[in-house]
Amino acid sequence: MNTTVTGSPEEAAAFIRKGAIVAFPTETVYGLGADIFNEDAIRRVFEAKNRPPDNPLIAHVSNIDQITRLADRIPASAGLFIEKFFPGPLTIVLPKRDEVPHIATAGLDTVGVRMPGEQLTREFLAACGIPIVAPSANVSGRPSPTTWQAVLEDLDGVIDCVLKGDPSRYGLESTVVDCTEAMPVVLRSGAVSIEDLRAAVPETVEYSGEATGPARSPGMRHRHYSPRAKVRIVERGAVAEVSGSSAFIGFGDPPEGARLARKVGSADEYARVVFDFFRECDRAGVGEILCEPVEERGIGSALMDRLRRAAE
Ligand code: TXA
Ligand code: MG
Repeated sequence: MNTTVTGSPEEAAAFIRKGAIVAFPTETVYGLGADIFNEDAIRRVFEAKNRPPDNPLIAHVSNIDQITRLADRIPASAGLFIEKFFPGPLTIVLPKRDEVPHIATAGLDTVGVRMPGEQLTREFLAACGIPIVAPSANVSGRPSPTTWQAVLEDLDGVIDCVLKGDPSRYGLESTVVDCTEAMPVVLRSGAVSIEDLRAAVPETVEYSGEATGPARSPGMRHRHYSPRAKVRIVERGAVAEVSGSSAFIGFGDPPEGARLARKVGSADEYARVVFDFFRECDRAGVGEILCEPVEERGIGSALMDRLRRAAE
């Protein structure tokens, strides 16, 4: 199959409307989208990514009306989050309406809803005219794509179209907060930090698998964000010298002998480039990537979460 690469949100939306699957940019990472009411298209999204069928998809909306079309009710906490953080890098899990197909939510009776803020994404979603389900546009297990080139690296010839935009502004997947119970629970950290969420709803808690029983966010069980190279988190200065098959990313100077190195000036920049750097390391055949840790505050918490998962 030939994958069409276009800069036109209208052309990309026309693919969606005829039942095809389309990768598109967002401010977090690129997504692989399908019409939420088209089960065949959704099935193809799972196949293209080789995604386990028990991992639910996020529904991307362009306006508030579409949220009420998907959600059975909007709990008070969700209303506050929507007011404060939509559009933006946040996904809210809500009780779903029966019309939302089970294949989209992996059989759950909840649906994750997100309203992206990026201009091009908004134009694309508006042109689609329906909510779009989309996981990150990578092959399952690989780092999420933050550029259209990274999408093609994984999915060229497998998907129908890529909407070509800028590199993603944040570089890490959205924060996921479950609002279906009394206290909002953060299932995945992201650019909207737990501190930000607590400023809106002070009762917000972090998910702890042990305390709340069965997995609330099935996706977090699966292996994630991994380059082929081995990832190691090492404090600055802990490794002075490495073999030529090692790479380094962090704030300090790379160890002597590193084949690839990326020096970053802030946690924001680190988050923005880390997945792209992982992919570059894989192309270069690097064996091991040394990653300097960051302070676990704001986006730093999400970044450390991804680094730890990659290092597992
Ligand atoms: O930033 C993002 O969220 C990107 C862009 C494309 O929007 N999407 C993304 O999708 O990262 P994905 O499928 O790679 O990750 C979705 C995460 C998974 O961990 C999944 O388990 C969780 O969200 N999730 C989705 N719907 C859920 C639901 N109803 N209940 C609990 N967790 C849910
Ligand atoms: Mg993903």
